[in-house]
Amino acid sequence: MTKINKQVQLEQQPEGKPTEKDFRIVETEVSSPKDGEFLAKNLFLSLDPYMRGAIAGKHMGHTRLNQGDLIGGRCVSEVIESNNSTYKVGDRIVIESGWQEYVLSSGQKEHGIRIINSSKASLSASLGVLGMPGLTSWAGVECLSKPTLGETFVVTAAAGPVGGTAGQLAKLKGAHVVGVAGSKEKCSIAVNHYGFDACVNYNDPNWLENLSKECPRGIDLYFDNVGGLVLDQISDQLNLYGRIILCGFVSQYNNKEWHGHNLGKYVGKRANLLSVVVYDYYDRFEEFLNVAIPLVESEKLKYKEDKVVGIDLAPKHFSKLMSGENVGKALVEF
Ligand SMILES: NC(=O)c1ccc[n+]([C@@H]2O[C@H](COP(=O)([O-])OP(=O)(O)OC[C@H]3O[C@@H](n4cnc5c(N)ncnc54)[C@H](OP(=O)(O)O)[C@@H]3O)[C@@H](O)[C@H]2O)c1
Repeated sequence: MTKINKQVQLEQQPEGKPTEKDFRIVETEVSSPKDGEFLAKNLFLSLDPYMRGAIAGKHMGHTRLNQGDLIGGRCVSEVIESNNSTYKVGDRIVIESGWQEYVLSSGQKEHGIRIINSSKASLSASLGVLGMPGLTSWAGVECLSKPTLGETFVVTAAAGPVGGTAGQLAKLKGAHVVGVAGSKEKCSIAVNHYGFDACVNYNDPNWLENLSKECPRGIDLYFDNVGGLVLDQISDQLNLYGRIILCGFVSQYNNKEWHGHNLGKYVGKRANLLSVVVYDYYDRFEEFLNVAIPLVESEKLKYKEDKVVGIDLAPKHFSKLMSGENVGKALVEF
């Protein structure tokens, strides 16, 4: 029987925050795998902030999408038919599938395929704490900034997969970890679920004063996930020779013009600006997983998911993510 594949295509380029009307849902027929190919059924789709730039052709390695193009994205999938000797029926994989229910692949490396080794963590964790966001945090914390005992580590978007994981990894190194997030609920997750020492809500008018109280010895490391004014303001509290991990600029992704920075303050503070690009660490995925899987299994590294069910809800859920309203890793379950 022919399988029907629902997929999400671009209807029009978003202006500012993406909305549901920027996308359309289309049904196509699924072809059977030819020699060397396999067919996988997607189980979870990851929604990530970089996709906003990818759609507009502003994210590294991505060309601007046109009307009718499939929206790109990573999925956890199960191989259901295979004529490929590497990927067998029943294998659970992470694959660059796009926003759709089925993916037909030749198994080439450019599809970013990785077989998921069984662990006690949920399958969807391979798109969050044990996936690209987790690898990003590990690279920024363990490989680049290396927090040490007693240093003060501040991280923004603290309830999300990158911020939440980064803060927990820094805490495991003995740092004093303070999150910054956009609501009371997110701050409560950072402190009560992830175990941060404190979290400050930047929508509170006194947040910079509160941050200073929570960081009595100043900030030694700032893991920046948001950019813009918040980056400027938090940098004012950085200690001399402090490190800033430049990871994401999500506060700017919907804007045509990006917030400008006064770089003078960074010179005055002799700040060490460290930039992380997760793609540089893909060849160290196994090394990362060897650290992260035992931590997740022993619940020393926790995660939180913000999940909807059904591909039809992907545009709405993406719009929620790009409005900063997600609470945890944004996912679509099929
Ligand atoms: N460098 C790399 O290789 C790399 C790899 C992966 C991700 N990243 C970046 O890391 C950052 C965090 O990613 P994530 O997947 O963990 O995302 P996330 O935290 O799940 O979601 C984004 C969060 O950003 C905050 N935010 C602040 N201003 C925003 C705005 N104007 N619009 C939307 N969100 C806003 C919101 O949290 P609050 O309400 O708490 O502010 C929102 O929940 C992003 O900037 C992403 O692009 C970088």
